[in-house]
Amino acid sequence: MGIQIAPSILSADFANLESEIARIGDADLVHVDVMDNHFVPNLTLGLPVVEAILASTTLPVDCHLMIDDPDRWAPGYAEAGAHNVTFHAEAAAAPVRLAREIRRHGARAGVALKPATPVEPFEVLLPEIDMLLVMTVEPGFGGQGFLDVCLPKIRLAREMVSRSGLDVWVQVDGGVSGETIERCADAGADVFVAGSAVYGADDAAKAIADLRRLAAD
Ligand code: DX5
Ligand code: ZN
Repeated sequence: MGIQIAPSILSADFANLESEIARIGDADLVHVDVMDNHFVPNLTLGLPVVEAILASTTLPVDCHLMIDDPDRWAPGYAEAGAHNVTFHAEAAAAPVRLAREIRRHGARAGVALKPATPVEPFEVLLPEIDMLLVMTVEPGFGGQGFLDVCLPKIRLAREMVSRSGLDVWVQVDGGVSGETIERCADAGADVFVAGSAVYGADDAAKAIADLRRLAAD
C-alpha cells in the first residue's frame, strides 16, 4: 500500500467538520478519535457523528476507538461503513472474536497499543487483523510530545509483520510531525496519523505533502 497520511480531526474545529475535512482532501484517510471519558479522560464523539462524517466525505474513514468495551461498540462503526476500525488491546475482552466481527462487516480491523503495552503478544493475532497501531503518546489528547521510547516497538511491529508476510499496516499516532515522522518511517511505520501538525498548519494540503515527502525519504 505504501505510505499513507491520516490527519486526525481531533485538532479540527468540531463546529465545522465538513469544511475541516474538505481541507484535507488529499489525505489518504481521515482519522477519527472516538473517546468515551472512561478508557481515556476525554470525550469526543460517537457513532452518530461518525455516520455524519461518512455521509459528508469520500475519504476512507479510520476510526480509532479509545473506549471501554469495544467488543460491544466497535462492530457498529464497521457496519456504518468505516474503512478501518481500531480498538485498544487493553480494552478488548475477546480481540480475535472482535476483529473477525469487524471484518465480517467489511472493515479493516486494527489493534491499538498504549505506550506501555508490549507488541510481542500480538504476533499470533496478525492473521486476524489488518493494522497494528503503535501509540507514541498516552491516548486522550492531541498536541502532546512524541515518545521516543516507543520507536523500538514500531520496529518490532514491522519485523513481526514482515516475518508474517501478511498485509498488515503499521500505524503510528501521537506527536507525529515534520520533526518526528522520519524516525517513525525509519522504524517501519507506513500509516502516519497527524493531528496538530496538519490542522495547526495554515495550509493543511502543504502540511500533508511535506509529511508524505519526509516519510518517503
Ligand atoms: C490521541 C489521538 C491522536 C491525536 C494525535 O489520543 O489518538 O489521534 O489526535 O494528535 P497529535 O498529532 O497532535 O499528537
Ligand atoms: Zn488517534
